[in-house]
Amino acid sequence: MGYNVAIDGPAGAGKSTIAKLVAKEKGYIYVDTGAMYRALAVYFLEKGIDAKDTGQIIAAAQEADVSIRYVDGVQQVYLNGGNITSKLRTEEVGNMASMTSPIPEVRERLLELQRSLAREKDVVMDGRDIGTNILPDADVKIYLTASVETRAKRRYRELAEKGIECNYEEIAKDIQERDMRDMNRETAPLRQAEGAVLVDSSDMTVSEVVDAVVKMCQ
Ligand code: DC
Repeated sequence: MGYNVAIDGPAGAGKSTIAKLVAKEKGYIYVDTGAMYRALAVYFLEKGIDAKDTGQIIAAAQEADVSIRYVDGVQQVYLNGGNITSKLRTEEVGNMASMTSPIPEVRERLLELQRSLAREKDVVMDGRDIGTNILPDADVKIYLTASVETRAKRRYRELAEKGIECNYEEIAKDIQERDMRDMNRETAPLRQAEGAVLVDSSDMTVSEVVDAVVKMCQ
C-alpha cells in the first residue's frame, strides 16, 4: 500500500491546485479522479448520448476504457487508447460528468482504477468520495471547501485569464447546481468523511493551504 492522501470537496474549492503542489513537495503522484469522470463524459458527448438516458450511458460506460499514464509527473488520461487530456476541462464536459457520475455503474467502472493506483503508489488523490468510499483508510483525509462566492470568483478569473468570455452570475449558478447534484445524489454523495480535516480556503492563500496539508503528512 502506498501513502495515501485523500482530498475531497466541491467544485472550484482548489482541490487540484493544492493536491498538485502537495504531491510535488512530498514526491507523491497526483491522481485527478474528476478527470476520469470527465473522460467518460467525453465519450458520452462524442456518441451524442443524452445525459438523462441512463440505459445508454450505462452501455456506453462499458465500452469506454479509461486509463492513466504519467508524463514528467503530469497525469495523462487515455480513452480507448487515445490521449484526450486536452479535451477534459470544458464546462460542457464538466456538466456531463456531473450529470452522469451519480450513476452507480459509471462509478463502478472507475473504482478499481482509483484503488489500484493508491495501492501501488504514494498518491494525493482528489475527488468527491475518496475519503468516504474509495480510500476510507487513507493516511490523511481532507475536506477542502470555500464559499460559493469565492469559488465563482476564482473560476471567473481562471477563464478570463485564458481569454474565455464568461459571466460571473452564470458561473456562480453553475457551481451551486453542481454542489446540489454532487451532495444530494444517492451513490457516493459529496460529504466530509469520518476523520477528515475540514479546511475552508475562502480566506487562505494557496501556500497556507499547502503548508497545512503538508504538515499533516507524516
Ligand atoms: O472535479 P471535477 O470538476 O473535475 O469533477 C467533474 C465531475 O465528476 C463532478 O461534477 C463530480 C464528478 N466526480 C465524482 O463524482 N467523483 C469523483 N471522485 C470526482 C469527480
